[in-house]
Amino acid sequence: MFSPARLCLIFFIAIQSFSVCLIDAIFSPVGGDHGGSSLIGAGCGLQTVRNSNSLKNQSVGTLMTRLESQNCEVWTEACSEAILSLAKRPEVVDWLKKVRRIIHENPELAFEEFETSQLVRDELDRMDISYEYPLAQTGIRAWIGTGGPPFVALRADMDALPIQEAVEWEHKSRVPGKMHACGHDAHVTMLLGAAKILKDREHLLKGTVILLFQPAEEAGNGAKRMIGDGALRDVQAIFAVHVSHEYPTATIGSRPGPLLAGCGFFKAVITGKMGRAGSPHRSVDPVLAASAAVISLQGIVSREANPLDSQVVSVTWFNGGKDLDMIPDTVVIGGTFRAYSNSSFYQVLQRIKEVIVEQASVYRCSAMVDFFEREYTIYPPTVNDEKMYEHVKKVAIDLYGSPNFRVVRPMMGAEDFSFYTQLVPAAFYYVGIRNETLGSIHTGHSPYFMIDEDVLPIGAATHATIAERYLYEHGE
Ligand SMILES: *[C@@H]1O[C@H](CO)[C@@H](O)[C@H](O)[C@H]1NC(C)=O
Ligand SMILES: *[C@@H]1O[C@H](CO)[C@@H](O)[C@H](O)[C@H]1NC(C)=O
Ligand SMILES: *[C@@H]1O[C@H](CO)[C@@H](O)[C@H](O)[C@H]1NC(C)=O
Ligand SMILES: [Zn+2]
Ligand SMILES: [Zn+2]
Repeated sequence: MFSPARLCLIFFIAIQSFSVCLIDAIFSPVGGDHGGSSLIGAGCGLQTVRNSNSLKNQSVGTLMTRLESQNCEVWTEACSEAILSLAKRPEVVDWLKKVRRIIHENPELAFEEFETSQLVRDELDRMDISYEYPLAQTGIRAWIGTGGPPFVALRADMDALPIQEAVEWEHKSRVPGKMHACGHDAHVTMLLGAAKILKDREHLLKGTVILLFQPAEEAGNGAKRMIGDGALRDVQAIFAVHVSHEYPTATIGSRPGPLLAGCGFFKAVITGKMGRAGSPHRSVDPVLAASAAVISLQGIVSREANPLDSQVVSVTWFNGGKDLDMIPDTVVIGGTFRAYSNSSFYQVLQRIKEVIVEQASVYRCSAMVDFFEREYTIYPPTVNDEKMYEHVKKVAIDLYGSPNFRVVRPMMGAEDFSFYTQLVPAAFYYVGIRNETLGSIHTGHSPYFMIDEDVLPIGAATHATIAERYLYEHGE
């Protein structure tokens, strides 16, 4: 996915802050073993000087002039390339794979990410990165940069799924019945990779990057609890990535506006009055009331929604009565609803409630509708802020070229990243992991799900560039 020319770019790191970690050695300056390259650091970034073989028409004099005049007053391609090059160094790639495999072998379910969280904190400690812990039980809020504004956040989710891994490979899940089948092991690793890059470039940051390692995305309440514990304090923009088997490895995809549906569930208890079925006038029939409610619920999408604004209401439960000769006291109905825009989502929720309650009352019954709001199984839609989307797009195209960026379709899945998007300008994007040769072609939540590990440095570089460049453009 990368033009070979990029591989001959060598970088020199002007300023290094070494800590005791073995990983830090990875980013130490490259020696003279790459003949033909000269490297100079200045200003915002690492200046890139192309290998003389690839730039025969450029004299050394011209190069030096260019370098001296270039202090990254403007974000240049060299700045992006410097970050990508850091991420793709073999030692970094090895470390990323190692981290990802440890997490993959030890999957932990929502709010039980104790070992995963410990691993993240150990790596942060080694990199000398400060953090707050715990948020939302196992979550971490780390920071890199000046400590002052602007503040930009990057988020990774840490939880695995209750699925038995069916992929036979060396680093298969060691925990029966649990698996990283949604790629959150890769998300944690890519954010650690970004941490590494950003820490090495901390002197260049024009503000502060907040790294959020979040529990329980799959359970729906991780993000909400992180926010409750202060994850978004000072934050003025937030970004997150999800791996996707639909796009080839290293392709970045996103879209402005609604990206993932809002998803909610409802359960309604419709209460009448029990009685002998042979004398219906002595009872109040909740079966008829519930039936009328189910029919009327279908009118919400078909009659009230704009046909160009996709929405779903499905009734999936209808339970009541046990005796063929008795009208029951109650009938319980329930189901799910989806919508892409925030206003449609909450409008549908409101109408489900009204339709059930009012149809029940037509038949002299009462109804109680529960949307499980306390359990946070309501996810609002994930809506990308236009400007933040443009930022991701620009970063991706500069890093990987426009053929590797795609405007993707909205999807009916849901993501608890949406809770962040309700509060600050945000963008969610995908990074492809599809590789037919490897067989990484299965959808998330499949027991056959696997990733192309080549995505790890890509994700790390994308995260890091998004954050550094955001601060660059919004700092003073
Ligand atoms: C080098 O040559 C290429 C191809 O002719 C040209 O596009 C490029 O601008 C030249 N670079 C410089 C610095 O003159
Ligand atoms: C979405 O709608 C809800 C309910 O009307 C509202 O509280 C929330 O602020 C809205 N969010 C956005 C991002 O507009
Ligand atoms: C798929 O993976 C194989 C093995 O790692 C690699 O050689 C190949 O380049 C990859 N293909 C793509 C399209 O990334
Ligand atoms: Zn998932
Ligand atoms: Zn996921």
